[in-house]
Amino acid sequence: MSEFKKVVAVCGSSRAGRPEENSLTQRMLDKFLEGLAPEQSRVFFPHLMQIAYCRGCYTCWFKTPGICAIEDDMAETRRELDQADLIILASPVYVDGFSAQTKVVLDRIIPMFDPLISVDAEGHCRHPLLQAGERRPRALLLSCCGFSEADNFAQIRSHFRAICRNLYWQRAGEILLPASGLAFVPRKYDEKFAAIKKAGEELSQQGEISPETADFIAREILSARQYQEFLNPYFSRLRKQQQGKTV
Ligand SMILES: Cc1cc2nc3c(=O)[nH]c(=O)nc-3n(C[C@H](O)[C@H](O)[C@H](O)COP(=O)(O)O)c2cc1C
Repeated sequence: MSEFKKVVAVCGSSRAGRPEENSLTQRMLDKFLEGLAPEQSRVFFPHLMQIAYCRGCYTCWFKTPGICAIEDDMAETRRELDQADLIILASPVYVDGFSAQTKVVLDRIIPMFDPLISVDAEGHCRHPLLQAGERRPRALLLSCCGFSEADNFAQIRSHFRAICRNLYWQRAGEILLPASGLAFVPRKYDEKFAAIKKAGEELSQQGEISPETADFIAREILSARQYQEFLNPYFSRLRKQQQGKTV
């Protein structure tokens, strides 16, 4: 049985939550959860919910500490996140970073902080958690990107690490799958999906994802040139087929 009782995922692909769209982010998340087998899991799809942008009014810091001025679906999302043993940020790379659908949730987390700044052991400014002694959940980044090179994850990984530091989350790993165009070719990514499930099993049973499994998932299987030659004819056909049609 998994060490994780409650897992909460934010699935920030615009295509997730609608099976006919076949979101790769969601397919990865489903496989990972299959391997992890937590007692309870909850997946949020922010684009299918009412979650407004943070207004930056700081009501949650000064007027009603810990309570956001906006009444929408974020209240429930926060309640669930606050109880999670493992938080999964499942986001495709959109313009080199987290999708807006994921980020809107992250921005709405600031009510959990005390505005009074503390300075940590490295001399860096932090906002302490409002509720001292609050649990520090583990957190996992799960992402895919359209280009073939794994370095397209550089910014989202760096952002994820900063988020974990500032939100007091303990990093549980990163599952990164490049060249998303190949995931739609029958059987091409079967081994990658099997490895994503294995990563879930490893995290559940050993408390961490082995570097071999994470590397296998992130490994580029086609060079940039090969990927270009493979994908462009398909994209050209698709463009011809769809021209004149409304999407
Ligand atoms: C708005 C948008 C921006 C994107 N930006 C990037 C990018 O900067 N780099 C990249 O490699 N792929 C980019 N992609 C491709 C997606 O990361 C890729 O198609 C991913 O598989 C989408 O996940 P999904 O199937 O769950 O929607 C972008 C896609 C969209 C829709």
